[in-house]
Amino acid sequence: MQRFIVRISGMVLVILLLVACTQPGADAPATTGGTASTELNLLCTPQVEWCEGMKAEFEQAHPEITVNFVRLSSGEALTRLRNERDNPQFDIWWGGPIDSFIAAKQDGLLEPYDSPNLGNLTNPDLMKDPDNAWAGVYVGSLGFATNTNFLAENPGMEPPRSWDDLLKPEWRGQILMAHPSSSGTAYTTVCTVMQLRGEDEGWNYMRQFNQNVLQYTKSGSAPARFVGAGEAAVGIVFSHDIVAQIEAGLPLTLSFPEEGTGYEVGGMAIIKGARNLDAAQKWFDWALEPATQELGPKYAAYQAPTVKGASPARPELLEVNLIDYDFDYCGDNRTAFVDRFTNEVASAESLRE
Ligand code: G6P
Repeated sequence: MQRFIVRISGMVLVILLLVACTQPGADAPATTGGTASTELNLLCTPQVEWCEGMKAEFEQAHPEITVNFVRLSSGEALTRLRNERDNPQFDIWWGGPIDSFIAAKQDGLLEPYDSPNLGNLTNPDLMKDPDNAWAGVYVGSLGFATNTNFLAENPGMEPPRSWDDLLKPEWRGQILMAHPSSSGTAYTTVCTVMQLRGEDEGWNYMRQFNQNVLQYTKSGSAPARFVGAGEAAVGIVFSHDIVAQIEAGLPLTLSFPEEGTGYEVGGMAIIKGARNLDAAQKWFDWALEPATQELGPKYAAYQAPTVKGASPARPELLEVNLIDYDFDYCGDNRTAFVDRFTNEVASAESLRE
């Protein structure tokens, strides 16, 4: 009888131990079924070559995880996250200006994460959300791309060197830019103009500027390719995207507005309700390592890093006259400015892919 009781209490102990081991601790990441995730669903906003490269590099660093990614421009990504709020399909969002991440945080779409690698950021005040809802993963400035064949065929024409230059009648029907409803690049452009001129003057400027625009595209970097192919003379694009097309051999020259240009901090955030939270945290930590941030040029991405110990491939792109871009102002006004642009400047119908 006594031996039976000892056997029973031993079994109870074993059961108790088993239960204890399978319960996640208070701070253990939630995973499906309590086991480590083997998949990561990534919402990727930078150029697709870089998304593909990052997927391959992450899978090499974490062979147990397969990354599935969809590439969407900033505005499209934000709309998707809003629509999927009750049933999130993505675990992490990587890339695209933080204006959209600030808007996403306000909508309650992001899951804060206090990554140990947040300490790597060179400028935490600028490069991370105070509540750790997002972190910056790269920096880049806006520039103008001009087709050099166009300049050769039109003697006397110079690459634009100010925002006013873009209003010259010589550029009528010669400018390409993305639409701010879909593109973070274009939204950075619009919010730069609002900060340089004030809102009243800024909207006047945008309406005049619109008369010179041939077409709006969905993706922010597309105008660099189309201008390089000779479809228009000037594109307003992040300078690193212009450098990438020059490196690829397109006939482009890069210029900047002398009175000041806007810039982006590219963001990253875990999605609220992420099904593979542990894998998302692994990506988040990995993306803030210096070695990861030096991978960009391997995939024609010349954005500058945000972490200590990583060197920019093209430091000159940030050694220009940058405005004191107010990300909170631009994040807070995102919906209002995009609506106003769509209603008063150019509709978002039939955008070019
Ligand atoms: C390009 C740039 C990125 C930028 C992104 C925004 O990929 O290289 O630096 O963050 O555009 O994309 P979007 O299509 O929203 O303008």
